[in-house]
Amino acid sequence: MPPIGSERKVVFSDEVLQDPYPTYARMLEEGPLHFVDIGGQWAVWAVFGHADCSAIAKDPRLSAKRAQQMIITLPPSSQGEFTELARMLGLWLIFMDAPEHTRLRKLLNKGFAPAAVEGLRSQVEASVDRMLDPLKPGDEFELMKFANPMPVRIISEMLGIPQEMHDTFVSWSRAIALFRGNPNRTVEQARAAQDALINLTNYFRDTVADRRRNKGNDLISLLIDIEEEGEVMTEDELYAQCIALLFAGHETTRNLIGNGMYTLLKNPEQTAELRANPEMTRSAVEELLRFESPVQFTARVLKEDMEVCGQRIPKRWSVLCMLGAANRDPKQFKDPNQLNLKRTNNQHLAFSAGPHFCIGSQLARLEGQVAISKLVQRFPNMKLAGPKPEWASTFGFRGLKGLSVTL
Ligand code: HEM
Repeated sequence: MPPIGSERKVVFSDEVLQDPYPTYARMLEEGPLHFVDIGGQWAVWAVFGHADCSAIAKDPRLSAKRAQQMIITLPPSSQGEFTELARMLGLWLIFMDAPEHTRLRKLLNKGFAPAAVEGLRSQVEASVDRMLDPLKPGDEFELMKFANPMPVRIISEMLGIPQEMHDTFVSWSRAIALFRGNPNRTVEQARAAQDALINLTNYFRDTVADRRRNKGNDLISLLIDIEEEGEVMTEDELYAQCIALLFAGHETTRNLIGNGMYTLLKNPEQTAELRANPEMTRSAVEELLRFESPVQFTARVLKEDMEVCGQRIPKRWSVLCMLGAANRDPKQFKDPNQLNLKRTNNQHLAFSAGPHFCIGSQLARLEGQVAISKLVQRFPNMKLAGPKPEWASTFGFRGLKGLSVTL
């Protein structure tokens, strides 16, 4: 039961989504913990501060197993329809707890080790060049037509998936993002996500069977080795990791590029400085990750009754960590609402913290650095064109519906 007298705060609305930062600032000022409306009769506790988000993400008294929680806000009469959706999502690494999580994560780390990722730099550069070569300065261009497919290409190459599947993957991935990224999700969104997951599982069932006969250096072959070596993963879990990597590899990085370029275009002086000093690219990408974080929140479920920021919360309740707000916390960042591409000691939480810290962070950074620096260098006069861009209606995965520019 919701605590008596707790005022429900509105965060997850279309209006707030267009510019959540004044709301985050108010929440941070009013206190560390808020009871936040997530649609219908539902509300959950949410922490907004940097230290609290980081502590919750690291606390073993909270569980990452929350796939079931995602369907309880749907009307009770339709929940039975989505048991498969909850089951399939529950197999993803991100929704596992120790010791299963620790074992699988350790093995998967091999595929994402810094040296393995750095080794992809020239491949990523070549891929970005191929996509940008046909474009000329002065052209009118929809920048998301570049930001959208680019990470899909990279993660698909890592998984060894043919190019003709990319558009289909993007649409399946979108359906999952719309469901996962909205705490106030609808039955229609749940249906589309479940269909997408079933289609992706069927696709990977065939691909894995094929790859078993012809193993290579790709991530699917690594996952097959992990599965064959020990009792770490079932066949179903193997397909689930393929889907999770494809999804996570695309749905977030596209928004690092889109949100990042939008932010740069609104700050031409700092962008000019970045263009003149390419060695700033690394700190610039970290700042863009902080400033317009592609993942705005994550969640955990209490394994036991416990106190969070002085509030007793019963077990099985969820707590949201508002990463996008934590990244604007004045207790952690000087002038948090000021973009500073040269910011030092930028301990942002865009990749979360603790055992589930993003396994793809190095890859995302590499893709962001290559894409953003090539766009900035190739098109020194790039400008926003058309009406003000709108944010797409997924709170969790913050990204633009479109970004029209003159190159
Ligand atoms: C800018 C791009 C990215 C952002 C902002 C991002 C953000 C995140 C965040 C916030 C988490 C942790 C959520 C939590 O604590 O519950 C996470 C986990 C994860 N990410 Fe990323 N991510 C990005 C790119 C990628 C890429 C490129 C991949 C892989 C190809 C990837 C794969 C994963 C996986 C598998 C997990 C689960 C890790 C675990 O549970 O141990 N991510 N990501």
